Amino acid sequence: MQVLNGKEVSQATLEKVRENTRRFESQYGRKPGLAVILVGVDPASEVYVRNKVKTCEETGFKSFHHAMAHDHTPKKLEDLVAKLNNDKNVDGILLQLPLPKGYDKDYYTNLIAPKKDVDGLGFESQGRLWAGKPNAIPCTPKGVMRILDYYKIACEGKSAVVIGRSEIVGKPMAQLLMNANATVTICHSKTPDINVYTKDADIVVVAAGKARFFGKENFKKDSVVIDVGMHRQEIDGKTKLCGDVRYEELDGHLAAATPVPGGVGPMTIAMLMENTLELARLHQK
Ligand SMILES: NC(=O)c1ccc[n+]([C@@H]2O[C@H](COP(=O)([O-])OP(=O)(O)OC[C@H]3O[C@@H](n4cnc5c(N)ncnc54)[C@H](OP(=O)(O)O)[C@@H]3O)[C@@H](O)[C@H]2O)c1
Repeated sequence: MQVLNGKEVSQATLEKVRENTRRFESQYGRKPGLAVILVGVDPASEVYVRNKVKTCEETGFKSFHHAMAHDHTPKKLEDLVAKLNNDKNVDGILLQLPLPKGYDKDYYTNLIAPKKDVDGLGFESQGRLWAGKPNAIPCTPKGVMRILDYYKIACEGKSAVVIGRSEIVGKPMAQLLMNANATVTICHSKTPDINVYTKDADIVVVAAGKARFFGKENFKKDSVVIDVGMHRQEIDGKTKLCGDVRYEELDGHLAAATPVPGGVGPMTIAMLMENTLELARLHQK
């Protein structure tokens, strides 16, 4: 089985983004800027945000990190987004999800100006993707497509299944696979027998958010499986990362698969950087 090494693909992508960022800066006399907003205290989100800020700086971007206490007034978050929308040094705005309890994700996500919606989550961005005219493609599904492209796994004419229909992963993933000329089926928690679809698929993207739930018995021989799932599990007193798929079962059965860690995860952050640069170029037009 071929290991689809997302770390390798992300490093190649980031190298290119760094090079293009240098070119952008010498052309326009400024760095692309990414603002990341974290509301409340969530240890996993704090790690993600730290990594994003670090990668921003390594890529040659300006990074604006806004950590807000969970007990601030909702108006304060509205004011911050409005301020960032009007800040010429900020090209992309990322509101780290999940938001604390009581926050309406859709409301706050849609406050972000569509041309700064770096993860493509607002309603206008979703519609634009559907219409084939995105400002920014959601980072995680874009990263999956980049892995397939890097390893020359063609989608055209293939049968693809996406497990999961969230706005952030499943729906845009299905759209991108369809754009790449795959015939796409979306499965979700109400799909009665998922194997009817997955065992017939050439490519399966798993984004159900169920730790180690899927295994060899769910996939067709010689198919390709991309595991988007990301979970922290305590094993022998140590915290380890795992996906939705029992990766160790797949060798000898599949043609190719992504591991966790080292698969889709690093791609999400690389795509965030690429999207920020693309939005910066859009703002120079
Ligand atoms: N690697 C990364 O960078 C990255 C980025 C984003 C997310 N993730 C990970 O990806 C996973 C999914 O994230 P998400 O935000 O899309 O999760 P989500 O919003 O919880 O959505 C999960 C989706 O999976 C479906 N589902 C749940 N159990 C199922 C089952 N047994 N069979 C089939 N479908 C099932 C749900 O169906 P219903 O719609 O019917 O409820 C839902 O559509 C999580 O583990 C998350 O941590 C990773």
